[in-house]
Amino acid sequence: MTLAFSKVAIIGAGAMGRGIAQIAAQAGSQVWLYDTQAEAIQKARDAVFQQWDKLQEKGRLSAEAVAGHKSRLLGATSLQDLAECELVVEAIVEKLDIKKSLFTELEKVLAPTAVLVTNTSSLSVTAIAAALQRPAQFAGYHFFNPVPLMKVVEVIAGLKTDPAVCQRLSDFARQMGHTPVQAQDTPGFIVNHAGRGYGTEALRIVSEGVADFATIDRILRDQVGFKLGPFELFDLTALDVSHHVIESIYHQYYEEPRYRPNVITAQRLAGGVVGKKVGEGFYKYVDGAAQVPAEPPVPVVESIPPVWVSPRAARRMELLQLLKDLGAKIETGASPSPEALTLVAPLGFDITTVAVVERLDPARTVGIDMLFEDSSTKRRVLATNPATRADMRDAAHALFARDGKAVSVIRDSGGFVTQRVVATIVNIASDICQQRICSPQDLETAVTLGLAYPMGPLAMGNRLGPDSLLEVLFNLQTVYGDPRYRPSPWLRRRGAIGLSLMHTED
Ligand code: NAI
Repeated sequence: MTLAFSKVAIIGAGAMGRGIAQIAAQAGSQVWLYDTQAEAIQKARDAVFQQWDKLQEKGRLSAEAVAGHKSRLLGATSLQDLAECELVVEAIVEKLDIKKSLFTELEKVLAPTAVLVTNTSSLSVTAIAAALQRPAQFAGYHFFNPVPLMKVVEVIAGLKTDPAVCQRLSDFARQMGHTPVQAQDTPGFIVNHAGRGYGTEALRIVSEGVADFATIDRILRDQVGFKLGPFELFDLTALDVSHHVIESIYHQYYEEPRYRPNVITAQRLAGGVVGKKVGEGFYKYVDGAAQVPAEPPVPVVESIPPVWVSPRAARRMELLQLLKDLGAKIETGASPSPEALTLVAPLGFDITTVAVVERLDPARTVGIDMLFEDSSTKRRVLATNPATRADMRDAAHALFARDGKAVSVIRDSGGFVTQRVVATIVNIASDICQQRICSPQDLETAVTLGLAYPMGPLAMGNRLGPDSLLEVLFNLQTVYGDPRYRPSPWLRRRGAIGLSLMHTED
């Protein structure tokens, strides 16, 4: 197949530019690297050459292939050197005015048929294109760091971009071994927009004192299968990057409550406690290893009282079977006996509200999160209410830890940790589809490849049932009175009539 672009220029030889140069040369294109700092070009070429040498040592590339790649990666000393290029990828400093003036200069040098693209992650593609003579030939081409390993690229159409340009860029992405996804020019595009739910909701949970950050990380890793908890992720990305992304998307969406930033990251950023790279973020790092506070031990209890389960508990039959397997004495009366441990399993509601509404004794009432099937998780999460007696809390903890599964006990909160975070992620993903920023399929691809979630948010929503997630969101809205939990129409309509979240109307 002929290459979509055989002569390619990359402007900016930093972390991103060198990665893009590497995969373009590997695809077979002739690549010119340009940077205002001449030494940056040399450093970038050396770094890429080293990568190829390593791949050759490991037997993943032949000597011939490496020689070919090296011969195709050249340095340029001025923009004039790039006159013949069919594609120019900009990966310079993230400043609108500097990017605009670079593209204005490039238009003067290049052929009218040349395609110009920006790797911006936070600026508007349309705003950069506004200065250009040929905005139809201009698009966003958003790669992720490190480029050779993060195999997805967002192809972003500005207001005036020719769809044929996006198609050609998608073809070229595939030729470079990447998966293209098509996005409309909106704040955060797909990946950085879809990623808002995870950390932002986790921060809110910490700020309410429901659980500490290490507990929240454990819960989300063990119940949902995220590779990194939200606070481990913040430490890796560093708050001097992520806090600005959170604020930028929030303001670009005119203070949409779903994306509201949190004072916790603002304060930590101000204090310089930004993450692993400075030795301290949410965790302290010693020799690069996070110092994780120990988990509270399973309490030792003399006996476990009989257990009564609310008739309104989520996954009630599954919960009863689990209690049987754990050897609990289960009460079957219409109401709990005076000594019973009373279990509730709400979706979205807090334990206090459920105890009041169901007329249960709050002192003996403990909640368990049953959003996911118990068999699919590595941890159970219990929640107390302000009146729960310590002996009842400890009995529940000991009972649910009997088979060796990890148990976390958190304070009362609408929707537990997992329900809040998962419902928020699925809701934001649904809203991305509602806004037609991208197709449901591209959303799933972008999130699984760009954020390494265990599955796409829409697939997760389908697995748990859109109706369950809607129940969580409606009840969270009641508990908190906060519009951030209002369900996206995309989720509401599909949930109401039992359709897949991947279903498009037209
Ligand atoms: P970097 O700071 O590592 O490299 C930028 C390079 O551009 C430097 O070598 C600098 O000398 C050069 N440069 C600055 N102004 C220039 C100009 N007017 N003409 C030519 N060269 C110029 O930056 P990085 O991280 O590679 O980011 C580049 C772009 O990619 C930014 O727009 C950033 O937002 C975007 N991006 C960054 C990601 C990341 O994780 N680092 C991820 C996705 C996008």
